[in-house]
Order: sequence, then C-alpha cells, then structure tokens
Amino acid sequence: MAAARPRVWVSQPLFDDIVDQLAAHCDVDAAAQVVQYDAAAIAAALRDADGALVTLNERIGATELAAAPRLRAIANVGVGYNNLDIAALDAAGVVATNTPDVLTETTADLGFALLMAAARRIGESERWLREGHWRQWSFSTMLGADVHGSTLGILGMGRIGQAIARRGHHGFGMKVLYHNRSRLPEAVEREVGARYVDFDALLAQADHLLLVLPYSPASHHIIGAAALAKMKPGATLVNIARGGLVDELALADALANGRLAAAGLDVYEGEPDVRPELLALRNVVLTPHIGSASQATRRAMVQLAVDNLAAALGFGPQAGRPSNPVTAKQTTAITTTGAIAGAGKAATGKRPGTSA
Ligand code: GLV
Repeated sequence: MAAARPRVWVSQPLFDDIVDQLAAHCDVDAAAQVVQYDAAAIAAALRDADGALVTLNERIGATELAAAPRLRAIANVGVGYNNLDIAALDAAGVVATNTPDVLTETTADLGFALLMAAARRIGESERWLREGHWRQWSFSTMLGADVHGSTLGILGMGRIGQAIARRGHHGFGMKVLYHNRSRLPEAVEREVGARYVDFDALLAQADHLLLVLPYSPASHHIIGAAALAKMKPGATLVNIARGGLVDELALADALANGRLAAAGLDVYEGEPDVRPELLALRNVVLTPHIGSASQATRRAMVQLAVDNLAAALGFGPQAGRPSNPVTAKQTTAITTTGAIAGAGKAATGKRPGTSA
C-alpha cells in the first residue's frame, strides 16, 4: 500500500503559486484568509499535521504541540523565530526552520528608511502639510538631525546589521560603531566600515542607534530607562528587530521629555496593538512590521520556507537536509553587560537567530 501523503498546515494566505508546490507531495490545508489564532486554534490545526508553514504571528510551544503526535517540521516564514519555543520543538522531535539571507538587504533598506524618516521628521512633516499648516512655515520649521557624517550605532551585528553598516559607512560617510555578542573578524569590520565598542560606549556615542539583534529573555528590554538615560541627548532610536527589546513606556517618556529627539519603530511589544503613549507622540515614526515587505523578498521568503518544509519532510533536492534548521543552541542574545547568553555560533556574519 502506498504511504499516506503528509498533511501540511499553512497558517496564513501566502503566495498561492509558491505554496501550491507543496501539493506535489503533500495534502495542503491553507488558510484562505488572514486569521488571528489563539493557542487552542493552533493546537487544533496541528493535531493531524505532519508539517506546518507559519508566520511570526503564530506562537507555538509545548501547549500547542501537546496533541500533535505526527508533527515533524515547522517552517517559519521569517528570519526571527522567537514565536517558536525551540526547546519545546526540539523535545518533541520537531524540526524548525527559518528564512535568513533572502531578506537581509530589504530589511536593511527599511532600517535606513526609518532612520532617515525619524531624523529628518518626514512623517511629522507630511502630517503637518496634509493638515494645512504650510502657511505657518518659518525658517526653523521641521529642523531635524543630519544623517550623513553622523555617528551610527548598531546593536546586533548579524547580516542585517552589517548591511546597515555598509549603507551608513559607504553611502552616508557615517562613523559606524557596533556592539554584538562577539566581535566580527577584522576583515569584516574593515569591509563594512564599523568599529566594535562596548554597550555603554555605543549608547553614549551614537547619534542614531539601530536595534538589529534577536529577541530572547536575555535581551528583553535591553533598551529600558537605564539605557535610554545613557544615550546621547537628542539621539534617534530605530527598532526593526522585535518590540520586546525596548521598554516602550520608558521610550515614550524619553521622546515626550525631549531626551531623545525621535524614534522609528517597525516592531512593538504587543503588536498588532500599539501603545497609546506612542501613538500620541509626534516624534516617532511608526510602521506595521514591514521590514522585509518588498514583493520580491516576501516571495523569496515563502519559497525558502516551502523548500525548507519539503526538505524537512523528506522531499525535493535537499530531502532530509533543510537549509535553515534552527536549534535551541542558536537562541542566543546580547546582554547589557556585553556578555553572551546561550551558546550560539561565532559572529561570522551568518548568525541564524538574527531578527527583523
Ligand atoms: C521579521 O521580522 C522576520 O523575522 O523575518
């Protein structure tokens, strides 16, 4: 008797023409519309599944896995995978994969766009114009901070951090400083034009600080009231990684009292909800987690996730060897002391857990 075809759950509408490739080997149960799942709904969807293709909005841990005896693989469509409890997946024998590399440059573009928009008050200027205030123009209307020639601080120096460093150094003549769980090889530092400093020096010297590090319990609120107080007065903060890296109430305070000039946020602690304290501020640019959202890159992410899932389930040219497995060992993070929590790979620029 022929072996039963594996069943695959696809949690959200992705690109049908790419997801349909799974139908060559699997029975596919794909969401026809965007769904916000609770734990019970995810558990129900996984109950008869051999594999799943999910986005970062689906949180999966021991509870969701408890009644999924057949499940063998979860392919996350995203580079960050803090929505998955990797230790629980490892314990259940479920392979997890992510989608690094294909989104690096697109996400770095968005980081730079937010930096420019925050520092040069683009969102605020546009609202002001649309609200009909132009007749009140004066020579000091919408004065912002320069980006070219300033000091760019990058916290987290994986692939996306390096792509941002290149833009800053080679494109905008910036002095680029970074802090990371470990120092890059000198040749890489030279190529991206960035210098390693400790966490406090990064905070004290950056005119513009970009967060590009993975989120984990060790990096929770790494930018809180204490870190914000050490930042250069009038600095800009940009977060394209994960909302939980920043204590948003402390940030809202620092923006309201002028300690920081501006911020650009693509990620939030409670997304899709955004704190009213942030929404009320004029000097923060807010985007809805669109770091990798170009047409080409989102398609490339889905293709990579589909390939990873097929391989993890034993099909295709990479059968049994998905290109991007993640394990609990890789779930590492920078801490405020600059020490390394966890036991990840050395910083070769190929860090698997990089967010955003
Ligand atoms: C998006 O945030 C991702 O991790 O891919």
